[in-house]
Amino acid sequence: MAQFGKIVLAAGTGQMGKALVAYFKDKCNEIVILSRSESPANKHVRTVKWDGKTLGSWWVELENADVLINLTGKNVNCRYNQKNKKEIIDSRTNSVEVLAAAINRCQTVPKLWIQSASATIYRHAEDRPMTEADGEIGEGFSVEVCKAWENTVNENTAGIHNMRRVILRTSLVLSKSDGVFPRLRNLVKFGLGGKQGNGRQMMSWIHEQDVCRMVEWLMMNKEEGVFNCTAPTPLTNKTFMEILCRVYSKKLAFTSPEWLLKFGAIVIGTETELILKSRWVLPHRALEQGFTFLFPTLESAFMDLHNGTNEGNYKQ
Ligand SMILES: NC(=O)c1ccc[n+]([C@@H]2O[C@H](COP(=O)([O-])OP(=O)(O)OC[C@H]3O[C@@H](n4cnc5c(N)ncnc54)[C@H](OP(=O)(O)O)[C@@H]3O)[C@@H](O)[C@H]2O)c1
Repeated sequence: MAQFGKIVLAAGTGQMGKALVAYFKDKCNEIVILSRSESPANKHVRTVKWDGKTLGSWWVELENADVLINLTGKNVNCRYNQKNKKEIIDSRTNSVEVLAAAINRCQTVPKLWIQSASATIYRHAEDRPMTEADGEIGEGFSVEVCKAWENTVNENTAGIHNMRRVILRTSLVLSKSDGVFPRLRNLVKFGLGGKQGNGRQMMSWIHEQDVCRMVEWLMMNKEEGVFNCTAPTPLTNKTFMEILCRVYSKKLAFTSPEWLLKFGAIVIGTETELILKSRWVLPHRALEQGFTFLFPTLESAFMDLHNGTNEGNYKQ
């Protein structure tokens, strides 16, 4: 018998959505993905069309769901011009508003709303780690996005009874074939993997399997509120790159100075903040409540992504 009933993944088509579908498909009776694109059903995984901002017949899918996981948002890996900035914010706040409106129509509301948010909400930190309790909120465009995102969740779900809410302040998610890992791995393989900037900026990261396991853990406990969704061992960019080079038996290559990163970011259409901001974030609440990580160290995560075992059996 399946462990869970129905899971609704709003925008479950991206990096985290794919990992969650793979993880939960044999653990639940039904997965419904809300997407802007149609896709054929695969056994008990169905895609239902929405636009992420308008209430439509899709709302019935939320009726009596075990959990709604909202992953909607324009990818932040782009240039922060006015058009992209607006889409980054609107896609996040609109989806929250319309999902809350949909839930307000339900007779039996989902038991839990898990909102994917970002650990970027904390300030640039090279001096000390940020926890849920004592982390300081930063400033700048990305932080404003995070604040608007979380405020919209809090404001729009405050009146919904019988539903727990969790905000997952997620750090860099490491997946084998999506997100930042394959890009850095390719740089390293071609002998171009070096530290970025002065290399002292902290990198908080988490293996995609641990994201899924933390979601499952939250579905099974009674916790609410903000959780930092990140591995317990953040490290500097230099160490991060050294470990990646070691896994691929390569030497740490030349340093990419800030001016070169700025130039490169314009060429490939991204922002240097994504690599130069020091994100030093700890999963204090999860650890305190007894969550254990399958991949607590970067070595174990990289070895798994490299070998594809997903077994977390790397010995240091
Ligand atoms: N991956 C990470 O390292 C990471 C870290 C921290 C936070 N997060 C946050 O967690 C969420 C999920 O991450 P992810 O890596 O799975 O993201 P992703 O791969 O970029 O996928 C996000 C999904 O959102 C939908 N979407 C994109 N633009 C949209 C728009 N303008 N309007 C409505 N929907 C739109 C797309 O689904 P459809 O095309 O199917 O509609 C897309 O597949 C995001 O909000 C992200 O910011 C991710």
